[in-house]
Amino acid sequence: MKVLAILYDGGKAAREEPRLLGTTENRLGIEQWLKDQGHELIVSSDKEGPNSVFQKEIETADITTPFHPGYLTRDLIAKAKNLKLCVTAGVGSDHIDLNAANEKKITVAEVSGSNVVSVAEHVVMSILLLVRNFVPAHEMIERGDWQVSQIARQAFDLEGKVVGTIGAGRIGYRVLERLKPFDCKELLYFDYAAVPQHAADRIGIRRVEKLEDMLAQCDVVTVNCPLHEGTRDLINAESIKHMKKGAWLVNTARGAICNAEAVKAAVESGHLSGYAGDVWNVQPAPKDHPWRTMKNPLGGGNGMVPHYSGTTLDAQYRYATGTKQILANFFEGKEQDIANVIVTNGDYATKAYGQRVAAKV
Ligand code: NAI
Repeated sequence: MKVLAILYDGGKAAREEPRLLGTTENRLGIEQWLKDQGHELIVSSDKEGPNSVFQKEIETADITTPFHPGYLTRDLIAKAKNLKLCVTAGVGSDHIDLNAANEKKITVAEVSGSNVVSVAEHVVMSILLLVRNFVPAHEMIERGDWQVSQIARQAFDLEGKVVGTIGAGRIGYRVLERLKPFDCKELLYFDYAAVPQHAADRIGIRRVEKLEDMLAQCDVVTVNCPLHEGTRDLINAESIKHMKKGAWLVNTARGAICNAEAVKAAVESGHLSGYAGDVWNVQPAPKDHPWRTMKNPLGGGNGMVPHYSGTTLDAQYRYATGTKQILANFFEGKEQDIANVIVTNGDYATKAYGQRVAAKV
């Protein structure tokens, strides 16, 4: 079979560090294993435009792991005559047109859970660095300055604050779980799927039925739902109006869930004290992307980094191993672990990608 992997170029770092498995250099660690079984592996980072390796090779690929991401649009799926399986080497399959995949009965699978702890830890760090005004404090030290009041005027404790997550699945729940020892005033969630009562009671979280109601109560909002038709632009100029003045927003889910211009305007006006995360509506983010440099009126409030929260070396090991297992199951005709399946046999196998009548699990 022909496997087409779209990965990012790791360059010198990947040549020096073989545990950077998600790179074109280290090829998810599966090249020899595939070759030994007589399969072909094509790896590239070249994914844009009709002459790119991705768009040309997809026409004859049986399997793809397009997680650079290579956007597997309806048009490309129509051209992919042999495609049977798409594996997201990680979590988050919004780069694949899932409805089009269903129409052609292509299976889409993720390595569910592979990097959820990695992201949850990053979210907790991002909340703390915003609330405690860490980034401008560090920048001040690098500059050689020392003006404590300039930092302290916008530094707070997380204790006593209200924190809410949009989406309380694997990552959202783990974020709240990790925040429990901080003695926040309340831990809230908004999700159309309720957290099982015993799990909610264990960490003391409260469900809020309407997004606007949760936004209005929170000092910190963290976004942890997938990107789909129902969440694109979910945080926009209108929904931000419901947020408390001076609140903080953290998004490590997908950039396009938050409207870039609305977030910039809210941070620059001070309506939001800050925004942090690692996901962007365009990746790599152009040099002039507003989220790179936006600042609140006191010169802080930006905790943006490149998309790496789910790509720690620990996570790379887990998602490379999980990708190999999904491929092995496929080659051997075994059932996939249902927790990993997003769509299969023409239908959604998960409820996480929007509320759908037909979803089975
Ligand atoms: P999950 O499937 O365990 O949980 C997602 C939750 O979001 C579900 O409970 C679902 O009901 C909820 N949800 C869906 N639509 C919603 C809506 N409109 N409003 C409120 N809740 C909604 O997924 P998991 O593992 O927690 O991952 C979530 C997302 O995080 C992924 O889809 C991916 O986009 C992102 N992610 C980002 C990474 C990074 O490196 N920055 C790495 C891994 C995941």
